[in-house]
Amino acid sequence: MCGIFGYVGPRSPAAICLAGLKNLEYRGYDSSGIAGIQEGKLLWCKASGKIHSLEQALEKKLFEVELAIAHTRWATHGKPSEHNAHPHFDADHKIAVVHNGIIENHLALKEMLRKEGVSFYSETDSEVIAKLISHFYKGDLLAATQKALSLMRGFWGMAVIHKDHPGKIIAAARENPIAIGMNLQRMEAFVSSDVHAFHERDLDILFLRNDEIAIVTPGHVQVFDHASLPIEKTTERLLFDEERGSKETYSHYMLKEIHEQPQTIQKAFHNRLIPDFGTAEFENLTLSSADLLSVKRIIILACGTSWHAGLIAASLLEDKARIPTVAEIASEFRYKNPIISEDTLVIAISQSGETLDTIAAVREVKAKGAKVLGICNVRHSTLTREADSTLFLRAGPEISVCSTKAFTSQLTTLSLFTLLMARLRHMSKEEGQAFIQEVEALPNIVESILQRKETIKALAQKYAHYECFFFLGRHYMFPASLEGALKLKEISYINAQGYPAGEMKHGPNALIDPSLVVIGMCGNLRTLDKMLSNLMEVKARLGKIIALAPHDTEGLEEIADDILLLPSICDELASIPYSIVCQLFAYYIALERGTDIDQPRNLAKSVTVE
Ligand code: F6R
Repeated sequence: MCGIFGYVGPRSPAAICLAGLKNLEYRGYDSSGIAGIQEGKLLWCKASGKIHSLEQALEKKLFEVELAIAHTRWATHGKPSEHNAHPHFDADHKIAVVHNGIIENHLALKEMLRKEGVSFYSETDSEVIAKLISHFYKGDLLAATQKALSLMRGFWGMAVIHKDHPGKIIAAARENPIAIGMNLQRMEAFVSSDVHAFHERDLDILFLRNDEIAIVTPGHVQVFDHASLPIEKTTERLLFDEERGSKETYSHYMLKEIHEQPQTIQKAFHNRLIPDFGTAEFENLTLSSADLLSVKRIIILACGTSWHAGLIAASLLEDKARIPTVAEIASEFRYKNPIISEDTLVIAISQSGETLDTIAAVREVKAKGAKVLGICNVRHSTLTREADSTLFLRAGPEISVCSTKAFTSQLTTLSLFTLLMARLRHMSKEEGQAFIQEVEALPNIVESILQRKETIKALAQKYAHYECFFFLGRHYMFPASLEGALKLKEISYINAQGYPAGEMKHGPNALIDPSLVVIGMCGNLRTLDKMLSNLMEVKARLGKIIALAPHDTEGLEEIADDILLLPSICDELASIPYSIVCQLFAYYIALERGTDIDQPRNLAKSVTVE
């Protein structure tokens, strides 16, 4: 979603900010812009569309500035356009502001300023920040920004510059991340909404917490709290995972990431299984066995694909560890008044660790005293800083907006956590060992699925012109169906639903006719017979059926139009290979329909607004 990058120092601020924006690019955006100061004048440049358009526009200008702030925008208030792109300015173009988040009272603030004769050129809420700072500015940029912030409701990560302060960026944060990186020797400093956008790995880094504000100057930063009192913050040198790689020979990041799954699943369980004791361990888990044993109830919080992983994990934890568990959508949960008892463990799942609704829900449960275990892919992300303990996915950077490898790594990690919780309770060593064998078989099973991609591609080509799909499953295959449908809708723009197969007769059967395609996710042996009956009901109403089923399933020929037989695997882990089939199916349908697979319309990789 929106991204901020700023630089003050001796090198070319424009080039460094552009490189920073490119590192933020994968998160999704629709326009971008940059502003800098050159000999007491504010210069700026904005462009709709790709960063490349901004780069081209900049090439036509003499943009040799002393510092710069830049932004990638994902439209919330006002359509994507140069007008609405950041930076935003005061009336005299002395002040420039880049902002992530939402100013909830922007209409009231605009009204107040309009009465003072201020006019607005954009449809954004962010423009009001520049106008408000200008309203209070009397020579002290920090003081004016603080006054503006005191009137603002909502949340922000932001950076501000003023033409009369050529060596200074003011940065502020509430609920939205802002990282500041410094190098004293090189006398330079960076500001970003995502620490991973910093190119240099030798920076001393600090993160602004809620309502903190900073003056960033070459090689230096001063931080103040909401009452303008200086705060001593310790900086850290961060360890980063491997850099985001290229697409290599793959045509899209999504395809590359789908193909990484044998390795990423393996990495998720590497050195975490203890076959001799039939259990699992985690290198970063700071909750003791006694803490884990005292857990009587688990609440899982997540959004989107991560929520689907949470639903599967909730069933697993109940089935295997016998702990009552629910998986809640974070954006709904945060507005409830949940009951949190001493023995409740909250698990927050987020690939990015930045999803605002998940973070807000985590803050709510922490305020109620809950212990939070994060399941996350991105080191140093907000979730990892706020959770009491974090289990990392080790999947490497996920660039495609459509989550694939993170989902299967979440499932693997959560299966291991379930094993640990179950072994601390009723599961026998032998059962634990049998489960470990199933986990260890996963990379080969996934490899065999990938080898069948041409078959899946042919199926996708056959069905790519249909406009309505239902993914049906039971038990673990129901959340896998939700995930299959989400993959299809987000990259192919086809109307796809995931449904519990047994629910069809309670309403959705009315939709079945020859134009509907049903993907029967028959991967759970316990419910296989019931699934086949449900598919018969679809057939009786002339729906098209593609059945995904274990290799020795009998009787499918009479039911399904197309059949894909998959390797045997226990019910608890079947959602992994079955979801990978759905990922490939969605990918090839999108390819056939010619959509922008790595940057699907209206979506962003990291959802930092509510
Ligand atoms: C779908 C997808 C999204 C994310 C959701 C949560 O392919 O990627 O549904 O799963 O936005 O993101 P994280 O896991 O980063 O919190």
